[in-house]
Amino acid sequence: MSNQDELRKPILPGAAGSDYERYLRTDELLALQKHPAQLLHPDELTFQVVHQSSELLLKGAAFELERALTHIAEGDLLNAARLIRRSNMEIDYPIALLHILETITPYDYHLIRAGLGHGSGLDSPGFLALLHIGPRLGQAFYVQLERAHLGIDELYRHHQEHFALHDVAERLLDFDERVHIFRFHHLKLAQRIIGGGVVGTMGTPVEVLHQRMEHLFYKELWDVRNQITAKATEAMRRSGTRTLY
Ligand code: HEM
Repeated sequence: MSNQDELRKPILPGAAGSDYERYLRTDELLALQKHPAQLLHPDELTFQVVHQSSELLLKGAAFELERALTHIAEGDLLNAARLIRRSNMEIDYPIALLHILETITPYDYHLIRAGLGHGSGLDSPGFLALLHIGPRLGQAFYVQLERAHLGIDELYRHHQEHFALHDVAERLLDFDERVHIFRFHHLKLAQRIIGGGVVGTMGTPVEVLHQRMEHLFYKELWDVRNQITAKATEAMRRSGTRTLY
């Protein structure tokens, strides 16, 4: 047998024909969607694929945030920022995937919805994991801020001297923004497909999704912008100059 033939032979444990399929367990993964004969509407496959892909990506994102939390607690801020950045990139995809579902029309969606039981995104393991890790990341960040004897305003004023801590702050802000953007696009999707004045499969009014958008993990990081602008405006009013320093 040639070397090429040898390399094509699977060596990992499993029954699938290649190591690619064995490693990624594609047989199991691709059997997780309804069989075409079971679909309540042909668009249901897209509905399932979008949800399942989102859950995988949110799982990946939450995993990286847990690692980032450990790094923050250990004071390894550069690695924390690197992993929060990665996690944010993973969250970008569930946001983008929501738009695919905008191509399902309301009448067709109701055929799919009839098979959802009480299934609701409120029970999304991936999204719940983000909601769980968000506040803990904030706490760990504030501990580091205290250790550095800094307030948030000082951190932003002297960001070059505290590059790593500032980087973590900005990546946390990116994370908060993404959760917000997910909620915004998801709200528009729900309004577009089932309407803004109805209740969901778990009895939650769609209006509640609107209220949930008010939620922010790191309000202080958003508020500091207001304080900086207020100070800059005041400084300009007093001195007529355009500089804060
Ligand atoms: C046709 C598409 C969709 C519709 C009509 C829809 C509708 C809804 C509604 C009405 C709710 C309120 C709770 C309830 O069900 O009673 C909800 C919550 C939620 N859905 Fe969806 N959804 C859709 C797609 C998705 C997708 C693709 C995801 C991705 C994981 C998702 C994740 C969530 C999450 C995380 C919540 C809780 C939101 C929060 O805490 O702010 N949904 N959805």
